[in-house]
Amino acid sequence: MMMTGQTHGFVLWFTGLSGSGKSTLTNALAPLLRERGLRVEVLDGDEVRTHLSKGLGFSREDRDTNILRIAYVAKLLARNGVAVITAAISPYRATRERAREQITAEGVPFLEVHLAASLETCEARDVKGLYAEARAGRRPGFTGIDDPYEPPEAPELRLDTGVQSVEESLAALIRLLEGRGLLPAASEVGA
Ligand SMILES: Nc1ncnc2c1ncn2[C@@H]1O[C@H](COP(=O)(O)OP(=O)(O)OP(=O)(O)O)[C@@H](O)[C@H]1O
Ligand SMILES: [Mg+2]
Repeated sequence: MMMTGQTHGFVLWFTGLSGSGKSTLTNALAPLLRERGLRVEVLDGDEVRTHLSKGLGFSREDRDTNILRIAYVAKLLARNGVAVITAAISPYRATRERAREQITAEGVPFLEVHLAASLETCEARDVKGLYAEARAGRRPGFTGIDDPYEPPEAPELRLDTGVQSVEESLAALIRLLEGRGLLPAASEVGA
């Protein structure tokens, strides 16, 4: 496929409670971006914790280390033209701000997207059964139950993933990227 305009790297940083839809939207969005000619890499918290951050736990310090590692790799990729999507809870506002600073210091756009499904919704979904474990005391320090989640105050986009469909959320993400000039219009690809 011929690529028309040059595409620039960026970091699309999803943040939200467990079950808010970070992995779902990442896995749905990545192929759509690839169809439009972007090179895409995904840094999903669950996967990162099996290698890059293996051995880290869920203390504030370990969570911060995990997030700053994700930010570091995202920066390396995005400054070389890759569209990076990160899908980690990233519960602390100050740590997300550090990620933003490191990435934008390279001239790379950083788009924070808050997946704002309520705790009640996420817990009712309980996709992985983790909320039940946390409520039963078998998973201490679980975000939203007995560990904080600090919602972004001024994210580039907020999606109510408790109410919206996946398709509606995807459409809003595509609009965000197109609006910032980070995604060529579908008609331009391969033209
Ligand atoms: N608009 C939406 N966007 C994303 N997910 C949605 C939406 N509406 C409903 N869902 C559902 O919500 C669930 C989200 O689970 P998912 O595993 O993606 O969450 P997560 O944020 O990656 O959680 P974790 O932090 O535990 O990895 C899925 O079952 C998905 O089908
Ligand atoms: Mg996930």
